[in-house]
Amino acid sequence: MLLPVVSSFAQSDVFTPSSNTKTLVAYFSATGNTRAVATRIAELTGADIYEIEPSRPYAANPYDDSQLIQNEAYNDLRPSVANLPSKEHIAGYDTIYVGSPLWWHQPAMVVCTFLDTYDLSGKVVVPFITYGSTTYLNEGMQKLFKCTPNSIHVPAQLPEDIDPDNIREPQNDDAGIDVPNRASQVEGWLERMKLWSPKETTGIIGDASSDDGLFSIRNQKGGITVLTPKVGNMSVYDMAGNIAYSSSIIRECSVPLSKGLYIVSIKIGDKVSNQKVFVI
Ligand SMILES: Cc1cc2nc3c(=O)[nH]c(=O)nc-3n(C[C@H](O)[C@H](O)[C@H](O)COP(=O)(O)O)c2cc1C
Repeated sequence: MLLPVVSSFAQSDVFTPSSNTKTLVAYFSATGNTRAVATRIAELTGADIYEIEPSRPYAANPYDDSQLIQNEAYNDLRPSVANLPSKEHIAGYDTIYVGSPLWWHQPAMVVCTFLDTYDLSGKVVVPFITYGSTTYLNEGMQKLFKCTPNSIHVPAQLPEDIDPDNIREPQNDDAGIDVPNRASQVEGWLERMKLWSPKETTGIIGDASSDDGLFSIRNQKGGITVLTPKVGNMSVYDMAGNIAYSSSIIRECSVPLSKGLYIVSIKIGDKVSNQKVFVI
């Protein structure tokens, strides 16, 4: 499948998401690693792709800008972006993958500038980070979650951030963070996130369980049956972020749904678990 590759477009450009997808991969990359991962995600999912370009480009070897980058990260700065899409353009997407290199334990701050610009509430946001060592992955991912406070995240939750105010020293809290660091790791990662499978391009067809075992889904034509052993609240979102169904649940609940992609979100106590499902 040939994909529209939109590497840059300005506020004034007319940009229409390709007709068969409402997924965007937005990323920043200085030396190409995140670009390669982002491109592979777009290839597999059929998403549009957009590269965030800083107004002031970094040095060709970004390590020459290390002090500047550290200052931006440690002081939570928002460097400006040269090619921000208009709010209407971004509103047209229901799922946004957001990728960045890990720079001084944080995402590149231009990615946060991008995220701060839009109302991403109710949208599915899938953050990913490429890195040199695994020491600060949680710090970086936590930041992307914080910049999208009202979004539905995949994964739904991160490991506990042991010392949220300390982004300068490793906390040994990265276990459980799953992100692709090479294009070759994207397929497996998308499958583990239940965002893609070799059989189809989006969502899960057939029965599925949430990763944490909180609930399972039986998928029939015309709807799903959600099963959970404990009392909780269930919301089913369509891919525009609208609630398609909502109720409390214990053991079993049948949800009539027309064909399409949905996010099933179950809240039991403090725990929230999301599962993407394609209803046939
Ligand atoms: C200034 C700078 C700071 C970096 N800081 C970190 C870091 O804190 N942790 C880490 O694992 N990798 C760090 N890296 C390595 C990058 O995250 C890694 O090479 C990344 O894949 C580069 O992505 P890109 O090729 O898309 O720019 C740093 C790289 C640079 C240039």
